Amino acid sequence: MTVIKVAILGFGTVGEGVYRTIQSHAEELTAVLGKKVEVAAVLIKNKQKERNVSEDVLLTTDFEDILNMPELDIVIEAIVDKDPTFSFLKKAIERGCHIITANKEMFAHHGQELLELAEKNNVSVGFEATVAGGIPVIQTFRQLLNINRIQQVQGILNGTSNFILTEMREGKQSFAEALSLAQENGFAEADPTNDIEGYDAFYKAMILSRIAFGEEPNWHDVEREGITAITSELIEKAEELGLRYKHIAQISKSGNQIKATIKPVLVGKEHPFYHVEGVQNAVSVHSDIVGEITLQGPGAGMFPTASAIIEDLVYVCKNNAPAPRLTALTT
Ligand SMILES: NC(=O)c1ccc[n+]([C@@H]2O[C@H](COP(=O)([O-])OP(=O)(O)OC[C@H]3O[C@@H](n4cnc5c(N)ncnc54)[C@H](OP(=O)(O)O)[C@@H]3O)[C@@H](O)[C@H]2O)c1
Repeated sequence: MTVIKVAILGFGTVGEGVYRTIQSHAEELTAVLGKKVEVAAVLIKNKQKERNVSEDVLLTTDFEDILNMPELDIVIEAIVDKDPTFSFLKKAIERGCHIITANKEMFAHHGQELLELAEKNNVSVGFEATVAGGIPVIQTFRQLLNINRIQQVQGILNGTSNFILTEMREGKQSFAEALSLAQENGFAEADPTNDIEGYDAFYKAMILSRIAFGEEPNWHDVEREGITAITSELIEKAEELGLRYKHIAQISKSGNQIKATIKPVLVGKEHPFYHVEGVQNAVSVHSDIVGEITLQGPGAGMFPTASAIIEDLVYVCKNNAPAPRLTALTT
C-alpha cells in the first residue's frame, strides 16, 4: 500500500484539529482512499510552544524544509493572514501538491490565482473550510448543483456576530457585555473588528459568490455593515413585533449583475434563519429547479473545521469533481 504524505501549515485550533482527526479517522481514510494518510510535516511559528505531535513528524519553522521533502502530496494550510500564506501555497502548487486551505481572507483575495495555477499544474484546491466551518456548502454547490441555476444565496456566515445578537436578545445583555462573553468563550478575538464589522462575512460571501455564480460583484459596490449599531432597545422593539436581527450576507444575480449586501436584517418566523442561534451558521440557496435549500451547522471550532478539511482531503485525492464555476475576479 502506498502512502499519501501531508504537511499541515499551522498548529493552532484548526491545524491541531486536522492532525488529530487524521489519526482518529485513519481507518476510514484508508478505506475510502485505498492508501494510508500520513502527516509528514507541521509548520509552526514559535518553536518554544509544546506540541502534541509524533516524533517522526518533521516540526519546522521553515517552509523550505517542507518544500524540499522528497515526497509530499498535500499541503493543508491553517495559518492566519494573507501573507506569507499565499506565497507558501503558490510554491506548494508549483511543486505539484494539492492544497487545502481554511484561510478565507487569503482565499477571497487570491483564490482565483491559486485555482488557475492549480489547473496549470494538474492539482486540486480544497477550500470548504473557508466558508461556514463544518457545513459542506462548497461541495454542495460544486458537486450537487451543477444544472440548477442559482438565483440567490443567503448566509449567516459569522458565528461571533450571531452569538452576540443571540445573547443580546436571550440574555438581555448590552452589545459590550455580549461581546465580552464571546471573548471569554473563545468565540471572538481580542480584536473583534473582522467579525463585528462584517469583514469576515464579506470574505466568505465573495468566495460563495464565485462558486455560486462564477463571478463576484465589484468589492467597492458591496454594502457591508457589521452589528455594532444594533442596540438592546432595537432588539427589544423587534422582539415585540415577532422579529429578530440576523447578520446576513445576501448575494443574488439579476441579468448579468451580481449584487451583494452584508448587513443586519430583521427576519420573521417564516425565515429559515429565525431559529439559527448562537455560534451556528446557515446557508440558504435558492435555485430554479429545486427551490430553496437551507444548510445549518457549526460555523467554526476545532473539529467542525477539521471535518471540512478532511472531506476536502478526500476530494483532492479523488480529484474527480467537475471544475468549479469560477471566472474572473472583478475587484
Ligand atoms: N478557528 C476556527 O474555528 C476556524 C474556522 C474556519 C477557518 N479558520 C481559519 O483557519 C486559519 C487558522 O485558524 P486558527 O483558529 O487555527 O488559528 P490559530 O489558533 O491562531 O493558529 C494559527 C497557527 O498558525 C501558525 N502560524 C501563524 N503564522 C505563521 C507563519 N508565518 N508561519 C508558520 N506558522 C504560522 C501559528 O503558529 P504558533 O502555534 O507557533 O504560534 C499557529 O499554530 C485562519 O485563517 C482562520 O481564519 C478558523
